[in-house]
Amino acid sequence: MQYTNLSFILEAICNKYDPLVTSWRKYWTQVKLRETIGYTCRRGYKGTDGTNVATCTRDGWSPNPLCQEPLGCETAPLLADGDLKYTKKSNYSNNETVEYMCPSFYTMEGEPYRTCINGEWTGHMRCLKPCVVNEDDFRQHNITLKSSDNKYFTHDEIIEFRCARGIPVGAVAMRQRCNGGVVLLPTCQ
Ligand SMILES: *[C@@H]1O[C@H](CO)[C@@H](O)[C@H](O)[C@H]1NC(C)=O
Ligand SMILES: *[C@@H]1O[C@H](CO)[C@@H](O)[C@H](O)[C@H]1NC(C)=O
Ligand SMILES: *[C@@H]1O[C@H](CO)[C@@H](O)[C@H](O)[C@H]1NC(C)=O
Repeated sequence: MQYTNLSFILEAICNKYDPLVTSWRKYWTQVKLRETIGYTCRRGYKGTDGTNVATCTRDGWSPNPLCQEPLGCETAPLLADGDLKYTKKSNYSNNETVEYMCPSFYTMEGEPYRTCINGEWTGHMRCLKPCVVNEDDFRQHNITLKSSDNKYFTHDEIIEFRCARGIPVGAVAMRQRCNGGVVLLPTCQ
């Protein structure tokens, strides 16, 4: 018997019996070279190149293997000025989520979560510094706080000053917003 029918040979090279593939997008009687077919991987596995479309080549299916276990992640990224909420681990499995937190008076910008997706961490957040009252700076500018005797102001909080001496001079208003640890100081004379 001669195997002159290419499709027949390809049927052997690109067969649909892959233990990690649960279904194919179409039935076929003969596989043709360069034919593309959608497929679904077993639960917990994913298409190797992310497309879940297989192409029959002379060397068998591409991608090869068709399905693979998603990659886990190593240590979760550090967060400047912040930290992980729970104990650090040296490796994490796919789809595992970690939660971050910022110190007191700091403001979290963004969602506090990162998730390990196939070897990469998703999610982004920042810890924004508070503004801290500095009495020496105040004295130099002849100002004081209007009402509160707070020492810390969180990011975006409004800070109102008044003159400790003289009257306001210069272009900086007496009402300022704390911006990531930085606040402009008005001056009185
Ligand atoms: C994860 O880390 C633990 C302990 O550090 C180790 O025993 C385990 O084999 C690691 N797992 C993987 C998948 O690397
Ligand atoms: C990933 O986790 C979420 C929430 O924990 C869950 O709903 C989802 O099914 C998980 N996905 C996979 C592929 O395990
Ligand atoms: C603060 O007030 C004093 C007294 O009025 C004045 O001599 C000094 O120049 C003021 N400081 C600034 C930075 O204007």
